[in-house]
Amino acid sequence: MANLSINPAAKIRSEIRVPGDKSISHRAVMIGSIASGRSRLANFLPSADCLATVECFRKLGVEINIDGTRVEVYGRGLRGLKSPKDALDVGNSGTTIRLMTGILSGQPFVSRVTGDRSIQRRPMRRIADPLRAMGASIEGRTVEGDVYAPLRISGGDLSPIEYDLPVASAQVKSAILLAGLYAQGETAVVEKAHSRDHTERMLSCFGAKIRGCRVRGLREFCGADIDIPGDISSASFFMVASLLVPDSSLLLREVGVNPTRTGIIDILHRMGAAMEVKDERLISEEPRGNIAVRNSKLWGVKISGEIIPRIIDEIPVIAVAATQAEGTTEIHGAKELRVKESDRIATVSSELKKMGAEVQELEDGMLIKGPTRLKGARVKSYGDHRVAMALAVAGLAAEGETTIEDADCIETSFPGFERILKDVQS
Ligand code: S3P
Repeated sequence: MANLSINPAAKIRSEIRVPGDKSISHRAVMIGSIASGRSRLANFLPSADCLATVECFRKLGVEINIDGTRVEVYGRGLRGLKSPKDALDVGNSGTTIRLMTGILSGQPFVSRVTGDRSIQRRPMRRIADPLRAMGASIEGRTVEGDVYAPLRISGGDLSPIEYDLPVASAQVKSAILLAGLYAQGETAVVEKAHSRDHTERMLSCFGAKIRGCRVRGLREFCGADIDIPGDISSASFFMVASLLVPDSSLLLREVGVNPTRTGIIDILHRMGAAMEVKDERLISEEPRGNIAVRNSKLWGVKISGEIIPRIIDEIPVIAVAATQAEGTTEIHGAKELRVKESDRIATVSSELKKMGAEVQELEDGMLIKGPTRLKGARVKSYGDHRVAMALAVAGLAAEGETTIEDADCIETSFPGFERILKDVQS
């Protein structure tokens, strides 16, 4: 397992494009696989997570050709998937297991789905409950009232439901909406706070009958060509790096700025960031733009409530920004962080403390006092890609060298991270 060494950055000045959006890449492959006919995807993210989705759908009989970031998916139609011989392995990918289970719930065969150690610790009752209510049989390991992978899914005819989401989760919402394609009538999901709506937008690109979070079951829909924007979650590491490193100025081109994902921009603006979104356009139903960022003095802010689902993947790097901000940053209502690829409240707090940050762990968030002079240290990723990259950003703003252990996990969402990190400093 490789270590990543980071030295303090003198300045960041560049124009870059980050790789394609992970959430949208997963959905394009999945929905393309159950569409009828060919779909062509541009700027697909060939990261470990998205390639796990590709492998799973190949095992379900779908022909998928990949050439760099261009992908062709020969969809087999809603009811054309083949019964897989072996268990489907999602690797580290929560999006794959949860969304694919929604699709498998509508198939007239039994499938088994599993993943790595982290996946086997992530709660699945949140999808099992609604999918069972629709008529699928979902069995897994049951521990203290929750359900865990490996899962056994026995699908078939489904009934529509109207479901109040107990946790704000785009993965759960999407699993239900995708299963809803197989139910006669209208399936609806009611959210307390808006989570990312890429599934809804992508289904509408493919011509499915969807309005807001309400989808109608149907016989078939056709393939589509999808152009995927850059991933704002990947861009966020470079936004924060440019804010923290003196004399920096960065332009991030073609980044997805879907309003359900731009909480990071709102928070950084509130912290005092000089940032601007320019040239906004809508392509394949998703807004994108160029984001300009300059080194800025930051202030601590209070973060809680409805914005949390809009920044859920960016909280590790927001915590890094907070260590350099004047005053205390409070993050509340983010208990979901405890069931991500790692327990991100625990892992981010413990590793930033090793670098000298003043962080207090809360049950549902963190208190971070700043600014503190960070010191390079030997830190751990806990196999969590976003923890590894957030610590790399902290390393750029620290004194001395930082070594991040077990940094291979960055491949999960951001192949080429290390190269871009070097390029922006030269
Ligand atoms: C995702 C939804 C979020 C997010 C994850 C990707 C998606 O998870 O943390 O990285 O693609 O739908 P939850 O839905 O569990 O909050």
